[in-house]
Amino acid sequence: MAFFTWQSKFNFDIESIDTDHKKLVSLIDDLYTAMSQGQAKAIIQGVVKELIDYTRVHFRREEFYMKSTGYSDYENHKKAHDTFIDQVHHYQQKLDQGKDNISIDVLTFLREWLSEHILNTDKKLVPHLKNYGIK
Ligand SMILES: [Fe+2]
Repeated sequence: MAFFTWQSKFNFDIESIDTDHKKLVSLIDDLYTAMSQGQAKAIIQGVVKELIDYTRVHFRREEFYMKSTGYSDYENHKKAHDTFIDQVHHYQQKLDQGKDNISIDVLTFLREWLSEHILNTDKKLVPHLKNYGIK
């Protein structure tokens, strides 16, 4: 059974953002699969790197949309992104230093954070982006 799957409630009908969110959901699920199959550390590090890299791409996209349309809650939304990146980066450093592996707690944190962020913080932004014709 999959650990994290795309759900229709995540859908905003904004293709660029929906595509990013689907990719992030699938990367978190890939990380779970790699961990639960006891894959080599290099593989797990590769998935973590891909997750961080894609998260940065996605956050930059949302931040560009917010900034270029003068979204009033830009600062708080960006702060949530920055805090998440810092947290994932911290897990990555621990993994690289060999101190820890990615545990189920970390995987659950990633899944819950992304779900909560999509359903609350991003969802609040959607009507604003649609007003500006962002797709
Ligand atoms: Fe966001």
